[in-house]
Amino acid sequence: MFGPRLDACASVDDFRALAARRLPRVLFDYVDGGSYAEETLRRNVSAFRDHDLTQRIMVDVSSVASGVELFGQSLQIPLICAPVGFAGMLARRGEVQAARAARAAGAPFCLSTVSICSIEEVASEAGEPPWFQLYMIRDRDWMAQLLARAGAAGCRVLVLTADLQTPAPRYRDIRSGMTRQLGFMENIKRSFEGLRKYGWTYDVIVRGRPHAFGNLAGVLPPAASFADAWEWIRNNFDPTVTWADLEFIRRHWRGAVVLKGVMCSDDARLARDHGLDGIVVSNHGGRQLDGGRASLSALPEIVAAVGDTIVVMMDGGVRSGIHVVKAVNMGARACLIGRPWAYALAAGGEAGVRQMLCAFAAEIRTVQALAGIPNFGAKAIQT
Ligand SMILES: Cc1cc2nc3c(=O)[nH]c(=O)nc-3n(C[C@H](O)[C@H](O)[C@H](O)COP(=O)(O)O)c2cc1C
Repeated sequence: MFGPRLDACASVDDFRALAARRLPRVLFDYVDGGSYAEETLRRNVSAFRDHDLTQRIMVDVSSVASGVELFGQSLQIPLICAPVGFAGMLARRGEVQAARAARAAGAPFCLSTVSICSIEEVASEAGEPPWFQLYMIRDRDWMAQLLARAGAAGCRVLVLTADLQTPAPRYRDIRSGMTRQLGFMENIKRSFEGLRKYGWTYDVIVRGRPHAFGNLAGVLPPAASFADAWEWIRNNFDPTVTWADLEFIRRHWRGAVVLKGVMCSDDARLARDHGLDGIVVSNHGGRQLDGGRASLSALPEIVAAVGDTIVVMMDGGVRSGIHVVKAVNMGARACLIGRPWAYALAAGGEAGVRQMLCAFAAEIRTVQALAGIPNFGAKAIQT
């Protein structure tokens, strides 16, 4: 009864605790978990602890600027809300609420292919077209239509996610029934649990309809369960994708193309040589290849390999403004955050995401001042 309150949330851990109270267990575990033993997930977070910032003094930091330019867009902070599938189940019309909050913070919002709210709904209701994340689907005609929809909605940056060649099992999702068909008694148990989380039930189940996957209308039945959606993903995500398929994307997309899931210098060079505009150093937040290294650990090698010839961004384990400054200091132009905004959305909807992004922005400014980095345009003082 006397758990955490939204206005008392100071850190991402606080938002996480509040999300755990509000969400049914199956959804909290879906957001919070990683693949297999979650080793890479843990490494993503601990890598930031192992990297030190250097305190610098006697630098004029009377006016600190945190903004960066990316693909012709001005960001107030070097932060992007990463694509998070099913986010519309975390709060009523969740992707719209999060996109509004991101817009207010001057940070781009990247919409997942497997979002609840459609590209069109987010673009019109948030007042700004999102970046759009794409998974390669086997049916290329349908993909061409989806790209045309994103272009028509005003999206200018396409993020192609390449590290979901096959969905990796997540133990928590198997146990909770997120990714398998439930038996009769399990279904009853889940319904009762939903009722106990009455705040979420009223917000999402009663007021948040429709719950269909907005971008997959026409290929998935409107009443598809989580398990049906996973089945569709297993059958339709295309494991044959190679560098040659980028030609298809270029033919159907006029804006910038960013490749997400680059974890080594060879792939970073290939991305640059294939004319991509940017890459995200990412292991999908430790939700795909478990046993791989942390994103932050891969960053220096990748930055050394491609320098400024392509925009390098990173995600995985970013839990504070301090972490953003660390990653930028190591050569990332910007960071993406996944779980942090998903927790904040579940904890407090649009207001929750706003509050969390404001906290990140304030922390970035403070750390810039204390580390002697008045702006990110001038190369940060190396640690
Ligand atoms: C619940 C959840 C759903 C995700 N869904 C997608 C998705 O649909 N597409 C995608 O490219 N990445 C997806 N990701 C990965 C994120 O975009 C991002 O790479 C990752 O969350 C970064 O790690 P972090 O959560 O530690 O910030 C998802 C991550 C989470 C936590």
